[in-house]
Amino acid sequence: MPIVLSVPELQPGMRLYQSVCNEYTVLLPHGKILDQRDVDALRRRYPDLKILIADPLLDEMCEFQDSSKDRETARQATQTVSQAFAGVRKKLVGRTEIRSADILGLQRAAAQVLQFMKENPVTALLLEKTHSADTYIQEHSANVFYISMVVGNSIKQYIVEERERLSKSQQLERSYALNLAPLAMGCLLADVGMLNLQDIYNATGPLTPEQQERLRNHPVAGEKMLPPSLSAVARMVVRTHHENFNGSGYPYGMKGEKLHVFSRIVRAADAFDAATSPRVYKKAKTEARVLWEMTYGPMREHFDPVITKVFTAMVHPFPIGAKLKLSNGYTAVVVRQNSKAPFFPFIIIAFDDQNRRLGKEQLRPPIELSRDRQLKIVSCDGEDLSYIYTTSGIAPANPNNKDDGSEAFNYAYP
Ligand SMILES: [Fe+2]
Ligand SMILES: [Fe+2]
Repeated sequence: MPIVLSVPELQPGMRLYQSVCNEYTVLLPHGKILDQRDVDALRRRYPDLKILIADPLLDEMCEFQDSSKDRETARQATQTVSQAFAGVRKKLVGRTEIRSADILGLQRAAAQVLQFMKENPVTALLLEKTHSADTYIQEHSANVFYISMVVGNSIKQYIVEERERLSKSQQLERSYALNLAPLAMGCLLADVGMLNLQDIYNATGPLTPEQQERLRNHPVAGEKMLPPSLSAVARMVVRTHHENFNGSGYPYGMKGEKLHVFSRIVRAADAFDAATSPRVYKKAKTEARVLWEMTYGPMREHFDPVITKVFTAMVHPFPIGAKLKLSNGYTAVVVRQNSKAPFFPFIIIAFDDQNRRLGKEQLRPPIELSRDRQLKIVSCDGEDLSYIYTTSGIAPANPNNKDDGSEAFNYAYP
């Protein structure tokens, strides 16, 4: 099974459980035994990366949950649409309208990935994030597309019911109601109105009133750019992708009951991806924190509760192999997720209170943290996790994320 180590913890002789990649380029292949040169190069060039190292000792202790297939499906799906988006992006910068022909490649890629996802259903939302400021909109659109498709496929009955409730005829063909293609195109094109706003989405400080105005207008500006050949539902998704369930969103302040179910899906997917992606002006928030904030935190009312329930079931707050510091001073490794209580996974205590690795004879079988309430999680990778023991209020700021407060970011999340 893998154990997640930060680059400074790496030693020569360790074996990679998963390839080390930058964007979609493989830097070091999975299975490689690290030598001193690899370790030095990683320390010099990628000191902040998290690396999955194979851990044969823990393999002997338990059957761990292997999430590599779900990770691979996400990688292939997002890579396909991201590359298709790259072609469109180059054509669109500086333009005010998109021609039908410009998005044919994107439509083809979306259809292909929808089929691929049907054949490869996932049980977890596991996305790799890239660090490039240039291609942010492209990667972000691909991720929002992927998350929305996974969510859409998980709540089919709800989609049919909600679309029928909002449609005047009350009788919708099931295959029409469940056609996710307009949602797919809506997600991929939701932020086209941002492509020409680079000064805003990479801004580190407060925005001027004029910039705020342009930012709030990007859903409407984006819709105006779309070709007439795009379906009315896809256009609506673009126009309403920043509307919140409690009516606090923009540009119209529409409330949940009146919002199309696709708009509610894209809103949650967009916020989740924006918060968990590293940007020029902020580090990524952890999946644990964002999941907690979306389900228990002050902005929980921004999202449809049926959709956040899917996130709770599919987002792994702590990946398999994550190191959790415990209230007894020891450090454990996550070996299995807990679908009933996602913040309290199955763990094996693997390091003592001096962070020294325990020997084989000292290891015990997995502990289910939701049953052992004496043993609490204190932190993961330096982040204080005491907030997961509360279900209201505001999570304390993570001292590792000093620049969370960028105004551009606050428009996407919450
Ligand atoms: Fe947006
Ligand atoms: Fe967005």
